[in-house]
Amino acid sequence: MHVKLCVFDAYGTLFDVNAAAREAAQKDAALAACWPRLAADWRAKQLQYTWIRAIAGAYADFRQVTEEALDWALEASGLGGRPALRAQLLRLYEALQAYPEVPAVLSALKDAGLATAILSNGSPGMLATAVETAGIGNLLDDVLSVERVAVFKPAPAVYALVTERFSCAPGDVMFVSSNGWDAAAAAGFGFRTIWANRAGEPADRLPWRPDHVVGDLGAVPDLVRGA
Ligand code: LAC
Repeated sequence: MHVKLCVFDAYGTLFDVNAAAREAAQKDAALAACWPRLAADWRAKQLQYTWIRAIAGAYADFRQVTEEALDWALEASGLGGRPALRAQLLRLYEALQAYPEVPAVLSALKDAGLATAILSNGSPGMLATAVETAGIGNLLDDVLSVERVAVFKPAPAVYALVTERFSCAPGDVMFVSSNGWDAAAAAGFGFRTIWANRAGEPADRLPWRPDHVVGDLGAVPDLVRGA
């Protein structure tokens, strides 16, 4: 095993980004009729805004980006005039559920003697709440936010937060993301990479490819041990 450290993306990888809209839809008929589209729009706009802000040099806290993306998505679904629903969705997003396999996967990595961390666009406060809600704080050596470099993924300065913090080479790191573009760009940085392709999407046509593609995180400990 050459890998010393296993680093995870947060949103969509450890934490279920669709959970907020799905949960709110249980008690809201209008949302029940459209929540999958709202969740998809919310996520797509959130990511687009991070890329645009990164390119334009206009960093903002991920919480603000998430709110602005939600406003777009609510308006697109005809739910723009619902401040209480907006507030509820944001509250649920702060405390997203982790995917069911997450605690066991992190435990297996710790048992194998690896360091573990999160590297995320999320702001420190959001990430702290999500980690606490999931009860996985004791299974992580660190939670790294882009806030320190004030730019979003896939800027190389973000991936470099890992090698700086753990004083290691990119090749010592296994990076795991459910976002194909994030796994690809991390491979370009020099990390070993696993794309958790939860949505069964085609591979992104980018200059880099992830080393491994899996359906969820269950296989990650074995892939890391074999790396
Ligand atoms: C993150 C987003 C990209 O957690 O999912 O960084």
